[in-house]
Amino acid sequence: MSIATALKPSTDQQNDFLPLMGTDYVEFYVGNAKQAAHYYMTAFGFQALAYAGPETGVKDRASYVVRQHKLTFVLTTPVRPENEIADHVYKHGDGVKFLALMVNDAASAWEETTKRGGRSYMEPKKMEDKDGQVMMSGIHTYGDTVHLFIERKNYNGPFMPGFRAWTNPHFAPADTGLQYVDHCVGNVGWNQMNPWVKFYEEVMGFKNILSFDDEDISTEYSALMSKVMSNGNGFVKFPINEPAEGKRKSQVEEYLEFYQGEGVQHVALATNDIVKTIRDLMSRGVEFLKVPTSYYDDLIQRVGKIDEDMEPLKELGILVDRDNEGYLLQLFSKPVQDRPTLFFEIIQRKGAKSFGKGNFKALFEAIEREQAERGNL
Ligand code: FE2
Repeated sequence: MSIATALKPSTDQQNDFLPLMGTDYVEFYVGNAKQAAHYYMTAFGFQALAYAGPETGVKDRASYVVRQHKLTFVLTTPVRPENEIADHVYKHGDGVKFLALMVNDAASAWEETTKRGGRSYMEPKKMEDKDGQVMMSGIHTYGDTVHLFIERKNYNGPFMPGFRAWTNPHFAPADTGLQYVDHCVGNVGWNQMNPWVKFYEEVMGFKNILSFDDEDISTEYSALMSKVMSNGNGFVKFPINEPAEGKRKSQVEEYLEFYQGEGVQHVALATNDIVKTIRDLMSRGVEFLKVPTSYYDDLIQRVGKIDEDMEPLKELGILVDRDNEGYLLQLFSKPVQDRPTLFFEIIQRKGAKSFGKGNFKALFEAIEREQAERGNL
């Protein structure tokens, strides 16, 4: 057995060379952004916010921005072949391209990270329109994924210079209670977890707050190893997974094969009322992994007393786990595109700062059943 060290994120923010205020937005490169935006609005309860494309002077792409509380998603598609976005979609299918982080100083974020070995994606760039200015810079991380640093100087437009407001008075689906990005998980190749842990430590000043090795996850199930990286104030958490040898093919390996490389495996979205959120999402067609009902037989023995009624949790298949600070409720969607790659986690934290280790076994059995159905086990 080998659970992890539960190191607290550092409170020493004086010496944080990369202060982050949270996730600014997540941008997906997709095959059809118009329809993807509709899916996130209809199924997940986002609202239309902004648009950029040929009509606004951007010739090679169309981007739709949707928002729900503090969550902002950008759906971008190429409108011509032979550009970087088209190549990305051809190779990876739909997936996360940018994890954009909120900073006070995009120039300093770029200087501090590139001087520590980060590979530049974009030098600090000032973007301006009548609504104000935004500074942006960026560095590459695993695979073709990029971290952008976004500095908003009292920007009053809908999203960013270059985007115009986008609304549809005839179509405004109710929100589903999704609040903010809790964490974003990356899948990396064999033996690549530690090099990427080192990248987050050295280049971005993150700390490894939790580790799981393959012993934590029975080798009968899709094996993987994982380390959770957190920035200084704990607002930004990036667990990194790599495949491990098991009796069957690791779920991380299946991802790497279908994504054609390393990339974002799941984005965890926080809610304050998981029963209501999951009920809404399910009724709008979002599909979730299902654990056997026997999971609930000894749940109270495992996690102790919880505030929620057991019946709705069981009915909706919501998972519960406890650590020494509290408990959490979580549920994982099925992949949201035809390749078995990106999915979402819905999470409600009641004190717990961990990631649901106690659910790995039940969960991996569920994932393994799905993998077997696809013929990839
Ligand atoms: Fe997660």
